[in-house]
Amino acid sequence: MQLSWILAIWRSSGLTDTRLLLATTNKGKVREIKKLLPGLSFKIESLDNYPAFGRFQEKGETFEDNSRGKARFYSLKYPGIVLAEDSGLEVQVLGGKPGVFSARFSGRQATDKKNIKKLLKLMKNLPDSRRQAKFICVAAVAYQGKILKVYKGQLLGRILPEPRGQNGFGYDPVFFYPPLKKTLAELTTEEKNAISHRGRALRKVGAYLKTLLVEK
Ligand code: IMP
Repeated sequence: MQLSWILAIWRSSGLTDTRLLLATTNKGKVREIKKLLPGLSFKIESLDNYPAFGRFQEKGETFEDNSRGKARFYSLKYPGIVLAEDSGLEVQVLGGKPGVFSARFSGRQATDKKNIKKLLKLMKNLPDSRRQAKFICVAAVAYQGKILKVYKGQLLGRILPEPRGQNGFGYDPVFFYPPLKKTLAELTTEEKNAISHRGRALRKVGAYLKTLLVEK
């Protein structure tokens, strides 16, 4: 059946409690994304509920490739809408690294702590003027193997020489956001979501998902 027909039937049926899969097991991401999609009548689930789906191998060269690939992969297994996002850190002086390798920057047994340690070592003694970095998020929405929408968000900042703060996940303790004079790990989830790459992309996703639930 054509995708436009599927959506037309779905919209006209005025569904109010359909399911939405967040294609991640990253607890930090799930926490942020759930807060970014308030007031939706979707039942929101994560991959933790579906271990049998297996794991999508992220082999793309861009965040968009990975995000689209992940969304498509899980939407072929899941009956509802799938929301996948790929995100990461790009550091200018490192030629954009860690980029799509952000999660596994320090190798196969990578942890947030080890990734930060490797990053700080590579950037040792660099002045503030050479520590610019950005977070990128590309979110893809898919249904039954078809990509419905792709949205992007980014956040500019710089990498501090030492971690600061206890909140968030990943590189948050070393990512300094100059307008607030804080690292992302010194912000609450709400404060981070208001300015973050994920917040920017996911607010657009939320607005789009609402249109799917509106009866035409
Ligand atoms: P993904 O699961 O392949 O998208 O991995 C994204 C990785 O990028 C995470 O494991 C973190 O290392 C990093 N990352 C992405 N978004 C954030 C963020 O909001 N804060 C800190 N680190 C992030």
